[in-house]
Amino acid sequence: MADRILHKGLKAKVMSAEAAAALIPNGSTVGMSGFTGAGYPKAVPIALSKRAIDDRLKGKPLKLNVLTGASTGPEQDTIMSLTEASRFRFPYQGDAVTREKINAGLIEYQDMHLSHAGTLVRYGYYGKVDFALIEVTKIREDGSLVCSSSCGANNVYLEHAEKIILEVNSWQDERLEGMHDIISVNPVHGERVPIPILATDDRKGSPYQTIDVSKVVAVVETTNPDRNAPFKAPEEIHKKIAQHILDFFDGEVKAGRLAKHLNPLQSGVGNIANAVLVGLNEGPFENMTSYTEVIQDGMLDLLDSGKLRVASATAFSVSPEGQVRFNKNIDRYRKQIILRPQEISNNPEVIRRLGCIAMNGFVEADIYGHVNSTHIAGKGIENGIGGSGDFARNSAYTIFMSPATAKDGKISAIVPFATHIDHTEHDVHGIVTEYGFADLRGRSPKEKAKEIIEKAAAPEYRPILWDYMKRAMKSPSAGLQSPHMFHEAFAFHTRYLQTGDMRPKK
Ligand code: COA
Repeated sequence: MADRILHKGLKAKVMSAEAAAALIPNGSTVGMSGFTGAGYPKAVPIALSKRAIDDRLKGKPLKLNVLTGASTGPEQDTIMSLTEASRFRFPYQGDAVTREKINAGLIEYQDMHLSHAGTLVRYGYYGKVDFALIEVTKIREDGSLVCSSSCGANNVYLEHAEKIILEVNSWQDERLEGMHDIISVNPVHGERVPIPILATDDRKGSPYQTIDVSKVVAVVETTNPDRNAPFKAPEEIHKKIAQHILDFFDGEVKAGRLAKHLNPLQSGVGNIANAVLVGLNEGPFENMTSYTEVIQDGMLDLLDSGKLRVASATAFSVSPEGQVRFNKNIDRYRKQIILRPQEISNNPEVIRRLGCIAMNGFVEADIYGHVNSTHIAGKGIENGIGGSGDFARNSAYTIFMSPATAKDGKISAIVPFATHIDHTEHDVHGIVTEYGFADLRGRSPKEKAKEIIEKAAAPEYRPILWDYMKRAMKSPSAGLQSPHMFHEAFAFHTRYLQTGDMRPKK
């Protein structure tokens, strides 16, 4: 792999993952690369986890504070959580084992807007960052880096950490070089300048990440694949949700509020988001662009068909099949895809300027349009807010989508009061389920409730939601702006916890 490490001084720092892991003292704060299952370090976290097992047997468990871009893959999050080597985790995760440990109180987790993560690290809220542990595709002669399949918060950890460990992964295609656009934000308020991105395809930074080479203490060679889950073909329910969104766009074009190329699209990850992209590929819209967080399979389809002109993101989240297609056509994709640090891909200023269309999943929404994206029954974390808040607050169109029920109809996604609120009614323009598109624009809370119950709630839940709403309106203690009965506001949830079903027994 000699040609992937072109800087002579750094070539001399090559060592095993175990030797690199041994350099990280217990209690360290480590800023790692990784965003979805892309571009995360894959060898040193495994070595750290092995060390965690040994250290535990010796009675001195290894406990690290782990900061990343977002979620990562099994060789990082799963294994470090299994061995409880992560004491603290920030700013997003999407891993089943990590979720279990967080909800069991064994890992402290701070869930944060992804555009904010870097700024908060720079403020020093996480103390000194002892190590940056970053996967790269290549180290150039001058020591600058070709990032790999995600940019995430690499720039921040590389700038801010006292020491740097690089994993050079030869599995990553060398032709990623040139795809990145690294712009760093001035950390000092009052001295910040506008981010000069005026269109999705503006490139204003450098393809390379520069570093202080003297901070590098280890270079580890790897050859391990990224791991993203395969996509299922869209199910009927996902197709229906996608169709409601496409019909909505159609209406907006006819009303003259959207051009036929739409505004830049932001699309969350998952099967519904992918179904929307599949639908867009079959729909009438042309020459679209995407200013988003991750590139997924549906976006490759859109690029292939020519419907999508350009996509800007911070990471890939493509299935193993999507990865094969990507590598095959990488020379074309390099002209169409731009990868940026997450503080740029998710930047509120740019999102607001471009007027993005944000489409993200939700756990539950209440009758007034407040959205919970993160917590099950208000207590246990599912994944995290991710970039949904960055886009929801600042986009021209903010749409949340989910099946109307979960767990075979026992849970309604539309509830009287959301048990945790990530996005308030002030930011949410549309709530979409397989039953319809509740358009909340220009409506008061009571009007929103009518729209949500009638269009988005599952039919079997509509009578109970109406019953709650009507009684809340008559309740003497209620204010009539957003009527509620606090003693009953969580009745759906308490009933589910007691009986396993949100619906009252007949
Ligand atoms: N109560 C309890 N469980 C619920 C639920 C609810 N109201 N709504 C969904 N679930 C469960 C589902 O049953 C499923 O469980 P399973 O894995 O055991 O089958 C799980 O939550 C995921 O739901 P699913 O319907 O498969 O949706 P998804 O994969 O599209 O994920 C979110 C939905 C909200 C969890 C996901 O979109 C998310 O994490 N969003 C926040 C981050 C984000 O928006 N990122 C993109 C920003 S760029």
